[in-house]
Amino acid sequence: MSQKKVAILISGGGSNMVSLLDSMTGDHPARPCLVLSNNADAGGLAKAAAAGVATAVVDHRPFAGDREAFEAELVKPVIEAGADIVCLAGFMRVLTAGFVSQFEGRMLNIHPSLLPKYKGLHTHARALEAGDGEHGCTVHEVTPRLDDGPILGQARVPVLESDTPDTLAARVLVQEHLLYPAVLRRFAAGDKTPVQLR
Ligand code: GRF
Repeated sequence: MSQKKVAILISGGGSNMVSLLDSMTGDHPARPCLVLSNNADAGGLAKAAAAGVATAVVDHRPFAGDREAFEAELVKPVIEAGADIVCLAGFMRVLTAGFVSQFEGRMLNIHPSLLPKYKGLHTHARALEAGDGEHGCTVHEVTPRLDDGPILGQARVPVLESDTPDTLAARVLVQEHLLYPAVLRRFAAGDKTPVQLR
C-alpha cells in the first residue's frame, strides 16, 4: 500500500500537530504533506517548517464571516498538496458541511472531552462543574455536525479534587499526544477499530 499523505490544520501552538509529525516515520503508513493554519501567527507553523514540512496560511479574517468564501481558499493548498487524509489539530474554525463533505470519511479531529459529552468549548471546566470522576479526549471522524462523527479513539484521565481547568487540560493534553498518533497510524492503515487508552 502506498503511503497516505496527511494535511494537518492548526490555529495555535500545534502541540498535537508536532506529535503527529513525530509519529510519521519508519513503517508508518502515512507522511505529512502540509501544515495549514488560518492564523499567520500560529506557533505551530515555525515548528512544522523546522521539521521540513510545507506550510501555508489562509487567514479567515479578510472573509469577515463568509465561511464559504474562506473555505474555498482554505481547500486549495490541501488539494494542491494531494492530501489523502486531513487532521484537524487545534483548528479553531467551524467548518461548513460544504468543506467537510469534500473529505467525508478521511478527515479527523481531536476534541478534549469524552464525546459525546461536552461538545463545543470549555470542556474541562464543564467536566469539573459536573463533578465527573474521569475526563479525557476523543479522536473522531469529522462530519457536518460539530464534534459528532464516528469515534476512532478515546483516552481517559482521572479528575482530581485539586484540579482546575488548567491542571485538567494539561493532563488531558498529555493523552492527546499519545492518542492522536495511535489513531492516525491505525486509520492510515485502513483500520477503524477504536483505540482505547487507559
Ligand atoms: C488541545 O486541547 C486540543 O484538544 C484542542 O486544541 C487544543 C490545543 O491543541 N483541539 P494544540 O496544542 O494546538 O495541538
